[in-house]
Amino acid sequence: MNSGNAQVIHTVSELVSLIQTAKRSGKTIGFVPTMGALHDGHLSLMRASKAENDITVCSIYVNPTQFDNKDDLAKYPKTLDVDVALLNTVGVELVFAPSDTEMYPDGMDYVINVDLDEVDKVLEGAHRPGHFEGVVQIVHRLLEVVQPHHLYMGQKDFQQFTIIQKMIDNLEMPIELVVCPIAREDHGLARSSRNERLSAEDRGRACIIYHTLNEMKDDIHHLSIDNLLTRAELRLSWSWTELEYVDIINGNTLTSVSKVDDQDYLVAVVAVWIGGVRLIDNLILYKN
Ligand code: PAJ
Repeated sequence: MNSGNAQVIHTVSELVSLIQTAKRSGKTIGFVPTMGALHDGHLSLMRASKAENDITVCSIYVNPTQFDNKDDLAKYPKTLDVDVALLNTVGVELVFAPSDTEMYPDGMDYVINVDLDEVDKVLEGAHRPGHFEGVVQIVHRLLEVVQPHHLYMGQKDFQQFTIIQKMIDNLEMPIELVVCPIAREDHGLARSSRNERLSAEDRGRACIIYHTLNEMKDDIHHLSIDNLLTRAELRLSWSWTELEYVDIINGNTLTSVSKVDDQDYLVAVVAVWIGGVRLIDNLILYKN
């Protein structure tokens, strides 16, 4: 299975010099930022980058500034050796695993000034204060260091890629964002490192999320948004679930919609706790 030996780099200076050399010889750079604990969803991003670039860089860095819950940060799995072995199976060339001081040489206490059109304020932004400020801060820093031609992110985190696209546009960064489809387990549960924390029983039960999203898609032209959401709330209300939100939003502005007419891009989004684990998922209902 081992189709390559990724070079693991820990410092910005070493990475910058390797990338500069590659770029000077005309090579294209694809970049996949991650927090490690890699699974097949992450690997699908690596494969997309491998197919379209000469060199794929994967960063593995658990970014403290995006954790609104410090306990979640402390519990985040750190599995660099296993991650590198997985990256070797898909032939990733460079793995960047920096320390906090490499990423934040001047401290973590600053914000990137960028107009995000309020897309960071709703949904996850409303439920996880400070989360997207942290994401913007680290992705901005990583892009400054890696300066890739292509950046790969997952549709799994719909709001996250929307915000990063806004940042790229707003700061006129010469980078193309490629959004990759959600990789799912056999019964539809979106792949996530958090799934490992679910009991076998809860993992089975969690299929209700994908089922509910699909039901909304099937009926988007038959039922009102109100009815779709009421039914979805019911589907996601069990003794073993705690629903945080389920909504139907415009895929560009991320604002809730109340009527289907004249909408060109609708997405169903959900955040629900099962067995003490917070799961998010989404499904594009349609895009014209
Ligand atoms: P992380 O949760 O490790 O995710 C890294 C990338 O993998 C993200 O772009 C995410 O959307 C994508 N991804 C996760 N699960 C996926 C799935 N089932 N299918 C497809 N893609 C999936 O997101 C982060 O890290 C961080 O916020 C980061 C952007 C690295 C900044 O710290």
